[in-house]
Amino acid sequence: MTFEGRKILVVGGAGFVGSNLVRLLLETNPREIVVIDNLLSAERVNVPDHPLLTFIEGSVTDDRVLMGLEDDLDVVFHLATFHGNQNSMADPLADHENNTLTTLKLFERLKSFKTLKKLVYSSAGCTVAEKTFDDVEATPEDAPVSLWLDSPYQISKIIGEYYSNYYFKQHGLPVVKARFQNVYGPGEILGAGLWRGTSATIWRNVTPSFVYRALKHMPLIVENGGIATRDFIYVEDIARGLMSCALQGLPGEVYNLASGVETSIADLAERVNAGAENPTPIEWGPKRDWDRSGKRFGSTEKAERELGFKATTPLAEGVERTLAWTRDNLALIEACMNKHASVGAR
Ligand SMILES: NC(=O)c1ccc[n+]([C@@H]2O[C@H](COP(=O)([O-])OP(=O)(O)OC[C@H]3O[C@@H](n4cnc5c(N)ncnc54)[C@H](O)[C@@H]3O)[C@@H](O)[C@H]2O)c1
Repeated sequence: MTFEGRKILVVGGAGFVGSNLVRLLLETNPREIVVIDNLLSAERVNVPDHPLLTFIEGSVTDDRVLMGLEDDLDVVFHLATFHGNQNSMADPLADHENNTLTTLKLFERLKSFKTLKKLVYSSAGCTVAEKTFDDVEATPEDAPVSLWLDSPYQISKIIGEYYSNYYFKQHGLPVVKARFQNVYGPGEILGAGLWRGTSATIWRNVTPSFVYRALKHMPLIVENGGIATRDFIYVEDIARGLMSCALQGLPGEVYNLASGVETSIADLAERVNAGAENPTPIEWGPKRDWDRSGKRFGSTEKAERELGFKATTPLAEGVERTLAWTRDNLALIEACMNKHASVGAR
């Protein structure tokens, strides 16, 4: 299969990963791309204006939106989520509505679609990684899942995998699960969308907040000595990985989309500060009490072997590109951050 001539739905396509994916998909000569997004953690400006693209602003839990979908879709990417861990802890019901119900209602609507060849569900590596600060091995796809996850976000993401398996087994829904590690890169707008309960609405993930603060010559706040490790994967690599899942992934299977490189938060902070020529020293903060997943990175073996997918952007290059994009888009980013000033978020 190729994407040429195909009709593709991207749920959550205005978001960080979704908008990067949509841009790449537009280069593959599709018949049409439909984006559904309620702009809960995204900005309309991230969706390209393109004659092949239809944007539906609304929630995928809304029956009118779901019933409006025609049974002529070839591929669906499901990226909608309630972003992210800390906001989900502040508002678990909103997480349920936008992170669990989204998946259930979408799958229920799509289960009888005749033309659907592949549905890619975006899962999260943080749901299966061992919760430890000891040295770790790369997490494989079949690592055990704990019953003690750290946030409603993580619970919702793994419930999405359970629903993926159920709808595949019971209804033949051709779901492929893509388990992402930590994505970073251009297009992640600090403060994008609506206030979701905590200042994580503004700061989102570690890389964009470090990049912004470094460019503004503010101190990077590094918790617990920066000993935690993550697997940072550049957003264009993730978008290519998602496309590989759709083209080569086997329904019912799960694939890590990872760089396979373990990087400590202290190393990331130093790299970002150096790239931004930030003269202000790092500010060392205490450990986040809720976060037990200290060290983790993903195994790339299965995705390489079965999808032919390999992340190719080294962290140094990805960070440079993210710094450049952030510099070029500072006015937009700060306008989005400032939207939340009235809620006392700063
Ligand atoms: N970015 C990462 O590091 C990372 C890591 C692991 C997994 N993921 C997963 O990848 C996907 C994309 O993440 P992202 O970083 O682009 O986040 P994002 O917040 O930028 O994108 C999520 C999108 O979903 C939309 N959305 C929320 N509720 C919706 C609803 N009810 N109906 C329609 N749209 C809705 C949001 O407005 C947003 O555009 C998510 O499913 C996330 O859980 C991301």
